Amino acid sequence: MMALEDRIQEIGRSLFASAAGVKRGLSRREVDARLMEWAMRDPQFRTQLFRFVDVLPMLSDPHDFLAHLVEYLCVPGLRFPILGTLGQQSLRLISANRTTAPAFAAVVRGQISNMAHNFIAGSNLREAAAVVRRLGEQGMAFTLDVLGEVTLSDVEAKAYQQQYLDLLEGMTTEAPRWNDNPMLDTADGQPIPRVNVSLKLTALCAQCEPADPEGTAEAVKACLRPILTLAKARGAFVNIDMEHYAVKHLTLHIVRDLLLDPEFRDWPHLGLVLQAYLRESEGDLAALLDAVQGRAAPVTIRLVKGAYWDYETIIARQRNWPVPVYTRKYETDAAFERMTEQLLVHYPKVKLAVASHNVRSIASVMARAEAHGLPDDAVEYQMLYGMGDQLKQAVLAHHRRLRIYTPYGELIPGMAYLVRRLLENTANDSFLRQSFAEHVPEQRLLRNPADLVIGGSTEKPRKGFHNIAEHDFSHASDRQQMQAALQRRRQRVGQAYPLVIGGREMMTEREILSRNPACPDEVIGRVASAGRAEAQMAVEAAKAAFPG
Ligand code: FDA
Repeated sequence: MMALEDRIQEIGRSLFASAAGVKRGLSRREVDARLMEWAMRDPQFRTQLFRFVDVLPMLSDPHDFLAHLVEYLCVPGLRFPILGTLGQQSLRLISANRTTAPAFAAVVRGQISNMAHNFIAGSNLREAAAVVRRLGEQGMAFTLDVLGEVTLSDVEAKAYQQQYLDLLEGMTTEAPRWNDNPMLDTADGQPIPRVNVSLKLTALCAQCEPADPEGTAEAVKACLRPILTLAKARGAFVNIDMEHYAVKHLTLHIVRDLLLDPEFRDWPHLGLVLQAYLRESEGDLAALLDAVQGRAAPVTIRLVKGAYWDYETIIARQRNWPVPVYTRKYETDAAFERMTEQLLVHYPKVKLAVASHNVRSIASVMARAEAHGLPDDAVEYQMLYGMGDQLKQAVLAHHRRLRIYTPYGELIPGMAYLVRRLLENTANDSFLRQSFAEHVPEQRLLRNPADLVIGGSTEKPRKGFHNIAEHDFSHASDRQQMQAALQRRRQRVGQAYPLVIGGREMMTEREILSRNPACPDEVIGRVASAGRAEAQMAVEAAKAAFPG
């Protein structure tokens, strides 16, 4: 154990040294990063700015744009990172001036759009293809993602499917023309696809309904199958991303079905994501390893920590559900290392792709893979477009295969992605922020997270009053409970409900029919309807009971 930890520390220091050697210069990206750091210093200002960024794509008129900017940023008590209260006054003044306002709006819009383009490689395939080609020239592989998730209509889902079909057609024609690079094109002596795409299942189905896993799975698979069939025929790799917890069970269910599907069970180029921040993930991994035993080809698992931490904690607390994610950063980091170990043991049946910008996490994978005697290219390292550029160079300097997750598309469907990246870059616990922006000492950053984990769950039971939790229909147990309750009710459909006056049941001539709103012909119950006489009897009964 000690030897392994020593080796992790050694590799970690070496990665830091390589990253420090990377010239930073004052590129546009650097300037944007500094501006973002500046803007995010105050958490309340950060929240308001993100809210504004979220509505931005809909604001085409400059006056509308500025009116919203003022509304979001000129709220009482909000402090601008510089200028303090003068910031709000200046913003109001500039925005109110009808001559200068359009130019000012254009500058602010340009700055925010630059910030978005640091993380998004273009608005269409042509622009994205040029970006990934340049990445290839710098020695980095790619996975392309069409921005979009949680679609709201079948038309939108169909359009999303078409974009993936076009992406696969286009890139499998274009990429073979590029120069060969054995570092990117082979792994463990075997060729690997140059074209790699990542997609989100909630984009492929307008009704991703966790309460109906079978129906949703059928709809998603029907939309996904043509994409997989084309990818298989054209020699591309498809990775299914993991989204918010509500669709996790569904995603695992669908991917497991496809991995074992006769059409794909011998296809080695289908992968999925597991999120180490979920308390359930280690169990999910064990179940998945079990399920893929019968597969004829390896499966690639991209291990991430998880991008929906804020969302999951807020939603769970709002609904009185157990928080599904770890609530201390080091618990997630420690789970990530445990899962790494669990995955490496199963190589080559399972191929590990590590997606992290954390030197400690990456060093831990490198040291563990070495300890298992695996070749350097057995594991793939993955990072996001626009993030951790120094670290990317450090990983390349260590001769590892590095793949860049490169999203492209329109800003409106990409807003959720952009906000996740902004949150990630500006979170206090973010490794990138602590290391390359705040220069926390290396020794601290390289600490073994397992040493920090004391005891079990960190979730404190809440005191005081709280509402009974809603059902969470993404869980089979909740669905079964609901089904059983419905079954019980069904046996009483049409039942008559009497009045109860003074402890005595009585039916009346008149009835109130209670109908199933989803099927108005069905009478759920017939309720006796009181008239004047019954009301009088009830009042008398109440009077008589009053002394007691
Ligand atoms: P770092 O070490 O700074 O970890 C940050 C992470 O720690 C947070 O994102 C969160 O998961 C966790 N965390 C933060 N605060 C915490 C707290 N208080 N308690 C517990 N945990 C806390 N994500 C996803 O959900 N699905 C996906 O499909 C993908 N796909 C993907 C592909 C590629 C190539 C990359 C590089 C990344 C993703 N991601 C993702 C995003 C990924 O989840 C995100 O980038 C990482 O969580 C960041 O982790 P690092 O190790 O880089 O940083």
